[in-house]
Amino acid sequence: MKTTEQTALITGASSGIGYELAKVFAQNGYNLVLVARNTDRLNEIANELRDQHGLETVIVIGKDLTQPNAPQEVYDEVKGFGVDINILVNDAGMGEYGLFATETDLDKELSIIKLNVVALVHLSKLFLKDMVRVNEGKILNLASVVSLMPNPYMAVYGATKAFVLSFTEALRNELKDTSITVTALLPGATNTDFFNKAGAEGTRAHQQAQTADPAKVAADGYAALMKGNDKVVSGLMNKTQALLSNVLPDQLTSQTMRKLMERPDESEESKTPSTASTLISLAVIAGGLYWAYTKYGLPGVLKKVNIE
Ligand SMILES: NC(=O)c1ccc[n+]([C@@H]2O[C@H](COP(=O)([O-])OP(=O)(O)OC[C@H]3O[C@@H](n4cnc5c(N)ncnc54)[C@H](OP(=O)(O)O)[C@@H]3O)[C@@H](O)[C@H]2O)c1
Repeated sequence: MKTTEQTALITGASSGIGYELAKVFAQNGYNLVLVARNTDRLNEIANELRDQHGLETVIVIGKDLTQPNAPQEVYDEVKGFGVDINILVNDAGMGEYGLFATETDLDKELSIIKLNVVALVHLSKLFLKDMVRVNEGKILNLASVVSLMPNPYMAVYGATKAFVLSFTEALRNELKDTSITVTALLPGATNTDFFNKAGAEGTRAHQQAQTADPAKVAADGYAALMKGNDKVVSGLMNKTQALLSNVLPDQLTSQTMRKLMERPDESEESKTPSTASTLISLAVIAGGLYWAYTKYGLPGVLKKVNIE
């Protein structure tokens, strides 16, 4: 069993990508602090990881991170245990599906901003000060491919993820003369409970998510974090989508995203879901690449590709 005697704090560790990240850190011998609301599930995960990997310390902190004092309370509890955090993973996040003007709930959207943006900033501030003091530490922030493009039907969610990427890149620059690194993980639609919780079941993006394994996303994020990379887009299709967002006009990327976020019509549904959404994605990608090639030429397209 590996042990690093280092501790990673992971928010959103009770499911999906956060749970997979907790497993990767455990496999690599990190002690863990696991944060989310579902304390029962976190305790199950803590027992599982302790048993499988012989970790010395796995601390569970049940907290609703939309509450204004929650990040400070998390920090105080960690300090109360006498633990120093070497790695902070800001994974907890949620979305809400629907048209902003007429369908979505404002309170839910304000909570999304509190969780995806405010709590992430607050936790980063608290733990970064300690990291700077010892000139050592790493932060992994969960952004998204939608950090790079507008996200119709999830307008607020997409904007929070654009914030996360911008914030990460700015911090990274501010810390460039230290040993601290900040990395953004940009998954595309991934097979977790995210779409169900957001009310986006049955959309093309949800169908696309069925084939994207959160364990692979977590492995990509962990590798980029350990290398100290600025960001990683997980998955070939998502890398291509990220590339296109660099070269296509915003109106076109918005419209492409809108198509992905819509529910397919009946004729599409008669095909297998993953075939239909893959065909649409491939058609959009092929069209986008051709458009970019004719506008910029091959060297121009390659120059604009700065994904990792
Ligand atoms: N799945 C995708 O397609 C996708 C794509 C790009 C980026 N992402 C990002 O990846 C991250 C993880 O999402 P996921 O796909 O793994 O979804 P998920 O399975 O729904 O996980 C979300 C996690 O956030 C926690 N959480 C939600 N609300 C919280 C709150 N108020 N306080 C504390 N914790 C809270 C949840 O735990 P509790 O419910 O126990 O609190 C859960 O552990 C998010 O930031 C998401 O935006 C996801």
